[in-house]
Amino acid sequence: MLEGKHGNAVKKSMEILAALGNIFGAEKLIPVKSVQISGVSYDNLGDAGLEFLGIMAEDGKIKVKTTLNPAGMDMENWKALGIDPEFARKQKLVIEAFERMEVETTCTCTPYFIGNKPEFGDHIAWGESSAVTYANSVLGAKTNREGGPSTIASALTGLTPEYGFHLDKNRQAHFIADVKARIDNPMLFGALGNVVGKIAKGRIPLITGIEKATTEDLKALSASIVTYGGAPIFHIEGITPNKTETPEEKVTVTQEDIENAVKEMNDTDDVEFIFLGCPHCSLEELKKISELLDGKSVKKELWIGVARPIKKIADEKGYSKVIEDSGAKLACDTCHVVAPLKGRFHSIATDSAKGIFYGRGKNNFKTIFRTREECIKLAV
Ligand code: F3S
Repeated sequence: MLEGKHGNAVKKSMEILAALGNIFGAEKLIPVKSVQISGVSYDNLGDAGLEFLGIMAEDGKIKVKTTLNPAGMDMENWKALGIDPEFARKQKLVIEAFERMEVETTCTCTPYFIGNKPEFGDHIAWGESSAVTYANSVLGAKTNREGGPSTIASALTGLTPEYGFHLDKNRQAHFIADVKARIDNPMLFGALGNVVGKIAKGRIPLITGIEKATTEDLKALSASIVTYGGAPIFHIEGITPNKTETPEEKVTVTQEDIENAVKEMNDTDDVEFIFLGCPHCSLEELKKISELLDGKSVKKELWIGVARPIKKIADEKGYSKVIEDSGAKLACDTCHVVAPLKGRFHSIATDSAKGIFYGRGKNNFKTIFRTREECIKLAV
């Protein structure tokens, strides 16, 4: 592969993987079961990224199941989201390059809801931080937090260097985060991720004191903990499937810690734009949102991020119609962070702690951090 016997795209891919493996001291390359490619929005890629994709697509074809992270727009309904036509043209070129590589061009940060769901113990090469953390922690698959080029390299070779979170010795907890606070909805799991991530500073927590957590709660925690400074893996006693040694260091997370984190993620009362579905919604979440919006009419711009195959099921079940009849917009393939929204809105309300961090950092939004129910109240 490195000598170019399998074509130029594979040669370049192997150069990337070999360089990574050498830097991190990997002893060998291992096969991966699936890939999730990050770096899909033209807003992040720019023309240089598009050019790189064009080169890789000349003779590169995927070797394993591969899906894409969200793009900068809804690939079908971009006009309704107010996306500039020139941006749309470039974003389509990005997706076409991936199509030439035979990637499944469904753009989502919850690939595990749409059939890219690894089994416990599978080695994978995923790129998007919340999906990586969910895969490692909740599904028990094994992946590093890959960058855009290395995910493409793994897709075109079916391989990844064996280091980091592929090795069990690097997946052990470093400290216990004992929760003495009420954590019972995705927003509060996001706030918990904020608190524990900041304590962790790259280390791995074993979280205790949580009695139950839904898929949506774990999705929110996965997105938040890695955003605020944790490693892309956590353990929750009695809930997550990985085995870990029990560390000696113990930190208590209090109700006050959670309330302070919530307070810190609010810096305005003036909401212009509301985004739900960060990470992209499950079908269950769309059902709940449709119930909350039933018969209502939204007065503010409200987007709901979702993978297109989940929206299709929601269409059949009637949830989409209820949501769209209210004036809210189902935003497939994209989100408030990777879409080109800087300057278009000045403030955002969301139930996602990750969404707050990147909404501030990338798009300069003032932020309102509330539950799903409260966000919808703000919208109507
Ligand atoms: Fe997904 Fe965008 Fe949030 S990629 S995790 S919806 S910031």
